[in-house]
Amino acid sequence: MRTETPNTIYLKDYTPPTWLVDTVDLHVAIHQGHAEVRARLACRRNPQGAGGTLVLNGEALALQAVSLDGDALAPARYTVADDTLSIMGEDAGPLPDAFLLETVVRIEPDSNTQLSGLYRSKDGYFSQCEAQGFRRITFFPDRPDVMARFTCTIEAERERFPQLLSNGNRVASGTCEHDASRHWARWEDPFPKPAYLFALVAASLDMLEDEFVTRSGRTVRLAVYVEPGKLDQCGHAMAALKKAMRWDEERFGLEMDLDHYMIAAVSDFNMGAMENKGLNIFNTKYVLARPDTATDGDYQAIDRVVAHEYFHNWTGNRVTCRDWFQLSLKEGLTVFRDQEFGADTHSRAVTRIQEVRALRVGQFPEDAGPMAHPVRPASYAEINNFYTATVYNKGAEVVRMIHTLIGREAFRQGMDLYFQRHDGQAVTCEDFVAAMQDAAGVDLTQFRRWYARAGTPRLKAEGAWDAASRRYTLTLTQSLAATAYEQRLADAGMPIVEGPLHFPVALGLVLPDGTDAPLRLAGETAPQGTTRVLSLTAATQTFVFEDIPAAPVASLLRDFSAPVQLDFEQTDAELAHLMAHDTDAFNRWEAGQRLATRVLLAGIAAGGEGDAWIPADFVAACGRVLDAGLTDAPALTAEALVLPAEQVLAEAMAGRGEIIDPEAIHRARVNLRRHLATQLRERFEAVWTALAPSEPYAPDGAQVGRRALRNLCLGYLAESDDATLRAAVLPRLLAQSGQRGNMTDVIAALATLANLDLPERETALAAFHAHWQGEALVVDKWLQVQATSRLPGTVARVRELMQHPAFDLKNPNKVYALVRSFCAANPRHFHAADGSGYALAADVIIELQAINPQVASRLARSFDRWRQFDAVRQGHARAALDRIRACENLAKDVAEVVGNALK
Ligand code: TRP
Ligand code: ZN
Repeated sequence: MRTETPNTIYLKDYTPPTWLVDTVDLHVAIHQGHAEVRARLACRRNPQGAGGTLVLNGEALALQAVSLDGDALAPARYTVADDTLSIMGEDAGPLPDAFLLETVVRIEPDSNTQLSGLYRSKDGYFSQCEAQGFRRITFFPDRPDVMARFTCTIEAERERFPQLLSNGNRVASGTCEHDASRHWARWEDPFPKPAYLFALVAASLDMLEDEFVTRSGRTVRLAVYVEPGKLDQCGHAMAALKKAMRWDEERFGLEMDLDHYMIAAVSDFNMGAMENKGLNIFNTKYVLARPDTATDGDYQAIDRVVAHEYFHNWTGNRVTCRDWFQLSLKEGLTVFRDQEFGADTHSRAVTRIQEVRALRVGQFPEDAGPMAHPVRPASYAEINNFYTATVYNKGAEVVRMIHTLIGREAFRQGMDLYFQRHDGQAVTCEDFVAAMQDAAGVDLTQFRRWYARAGTPRLKAEGAWDAASRRYTLTLTQSLAATAYEQRLADAGMPIVEGPLHFPVALGLVLPDGTDAPLRLAGETAPQGTTRVLSLTAATQTFVFEDIPAAPVASLLRDFSAPVQLDFEQTDAELAHLMAHDTDAFNRWEAGQRLATRVLLAGIAAGGEGDAWIPADFVAACGRVLDAGLTDAPALTAEALVLPAEQVLAEAMAGRGEIIDPEAIHRARVNLRRHLATQLRERFEAVWTALAPSEPYAPDGAQVGRRALRNLCLGYLAESDDATLRAAVLPRLLAQSGQRGNMTDVIAALATLANLDLPERETALAAFHAHWQGEALVVDKWLQVQATSRLPGTVARVRELMQHPAFDLKNPNKVYALVRSFCAANPRHFHAADGSGYALAADVIIELQAINPQVASRLARSFDRWRQFDAVRQGHARAALDRIRACENLAKDVAEVVGNALK
């Protein structure tokens, strides 16, 4: 047995590069079975650096030749060891201040299953260089603060690989002199960039072309490349790109800087997409869509990911990260930007609700678990493990808090200043905050703690209204307990950042008549609006509001103004009042969620059986929401009637120091759904009927909301008793899952059917597969609805599907659809008391870590919360984790995750 102890890298050890690279001239020749990469680097001593040996990174490269200023290097002048190539001066003397270094290496893209570096996918060769994939293509100082101008010549067989693409502009192309069946193309990127933004594609792809005229009147050629035959599925991505380009001009004054912008879609891809300069590479999941193949959710995800990658052109590419600890500098900010784009183009409230839900399901547990880390971690073993919900989503919340604290206008000025100061540079999170601070004239010194602290803060609120003085007094107390991260710091003898955080608390006071009270703080002469943003900086702070005419119901953290857990004792009646009247749509939803959580936690404590624990008031409140469903925005009504997720309920239990009981959680949640279905049956029926589609499918806001609510009603109706189900609901589910017009409705019905223990379930699933087996992304949905089924036997079913010809362990989308859905979105079966879910996960992780460590490591994160369960489950989880850890040559990625889990 060999257990690798991953080497830890520390932020505090950062030093500037000793050598800079001004230009890179690459020549990539793709042959049958291998590729040859020739690289010519113009190296220059960094005046800010320490000097000495030039150390280049390189992984899985077979070095063929190395020369300096045209002369082959004597063996004494270089060494290849530990994934580096070191170049020394003559006779152990110094290297010249500037020189040309040329290397020739061979790589094997066909056997590259990690999908990092250059790899083979079915229609050709694709690259993925973030974070450290470029070193798997050629020897290079592979760090983001080394920025170079790239030229890339690609050469390959013309017939099989008609498209040869790289960053920037194609400046020349032709037929190979020595072999007329081969062709080449040369690309030049005018902008210096770090190596992680390099991209290369050599493939057979179809292209959708368009153009965009920027506000300064330049015409940008746009192209979306997809696998042959899929041109009818890229219109939406192209439209999204143009929308994003316009939006960034209007909202942030940012214009496209290249003449040519390409998106290439590939079906084997570790993540969502990659912002390579001028040549984004996308997972097909975020490009391809047609009404019959993609859901409303898919359409919106495409909008967001296309926008995200496009926005990176400024926040990430023009201004990039000094080192990988600064990852959130580009990711948090770019997620914030894509969120705002989503809010401006769809419903702001629905967008916000969905983001907060994702934060609670994905980020809060991370912050409470063994991999907890701040938005800017102080150390890592494997950087790929830090593309996390914390860096992305909490990072976006941190940027949003700055926006809320300083206001929209000052934020825009801060962005302008950031680009003015740092265009073309590789910078740190401090640089970003400093630009915001300087533009706004607000002191953000204390705010910086958000970048250094892990964990979800708790905000305790106490409010009291005094009839005699007509004053409302609000006391806010914040706390943040140490997490596993602070423990890791302490173990390494590193300092822990302490003290209260600085955050905005947006609030309103809702009066008994449902209106918002005008808010005047003690000491002010006049009220200033009905929503106030309080700036909380101390551990405890008291705010006094004057002239409040009646006992108000406080609406705190409007629009979720800070990523914290709120402890605020409000009665059921108060929450119902907010549900009905809060002018802040997010908090109307939130009040409903808090009420539902309270009801469910009481039910869980009672074992979750039956429905005696369900208060009639709660049912009535849901009934009122449903009644307003057709007049209010249907999308918001649908969100309001989604009960808190099982994972959120689990975290609520863990937060109270209780042992998570996944069975009771599941039971209580299903029983509450059944109860609502029975009690509100007529109303679900009425809304379902009223929302029948009357126009052809379009993924626009109004239709999306109507479909969401209608399918929500159908889902509840399917919770009816057996007789009603068979007579009144099943026929509808079968008809809807069998139609081939829009995938949103089909998959809603199929996912519901997948929970029903009826022969019709199997027939419907089989028919769906038979129709869609040629469409990979639709097959993923088929895997997913089965992996997330409630039915007993789901673990066995997932194992069975892993043997199905549709499944492929080498394809991340397949693993995500089947295995990650099971582990992350089916908590009750993943945490099965007999350990079968954990054993399944461990089996997959062990096999996959040798193939694709990044994806295996993401799966391993499913074990994060294992210590919050009972002793029997903990025993099974520990056995599974031990089994993974004992794996021979365990990938560093997985070793870090499992090591932390077992600490
Ligand atoms: N930077 C990319 C994005 O947000 C994501 C990314 C990072 C990635 N590392 C990757 C994508 C590895 C694919 C593979 O937007
Ligand atoms: Zn990103």
